[in-house]
Amino acid sequence: PVVAVLNGPNLNLLGERQPEVYGRETLDDVRQLCLRTARDAGLELDFRQSNHEGEIVDAIHELRHAVAGVVINAAAYTHTSVAIRDAIAVVDAPVIEVHITNVHRREAFRGHSYLSDVVEGVIVGCGTQGYALAIARIGHLSAARPG
Ligand code: DQA
Repeated sequence: PVVAVLNGPNLNLLGERQPEVYGRETLDDVRQLCLRTARDAGLELDFRQSNHEGEIVDAIHELRHAVAGVVINAAAYTHTSVAIRDAIAVVDAPVIEVHITNVHRREAFRGHSYLSDVVEGVIVGCGTQGYALAIARIGHLSAARPG
């Protein structure tokens, strides 16, 4: 079984981008963490990043029948994208929304997510560890529902 981890815009600059907000770890560090966690959960990892909304929609379509679960940090698109929301709604497998920061104690516009009410779970403010928590959850759910 495969767990997909999808990262939205500007996350390619993790580590360099506002380190006081997002920390010093790079996206490659996050990928390594996801690899270890996926392996421990008995899952294969498909890890992606895109700065383009339509590319994220296409990735969700491509993966929709092929994965045990999806972990998505849609970054700024979280707060704007009905298209990504509608794509997530066609995925049968569980989708977990992750944000590195606690979006509820930042600017008010980050407090609203177009995704939160169509996903299985949401993890915010746990740093990059949120990705590992989400992958562990997908592993738990996929072990409970084989096939
Ligand atoms: C983020 C929070 C978003 O509001 C922001 O646009 C990001 C990253 C997070 O992981 O904390 O790019 O999704």
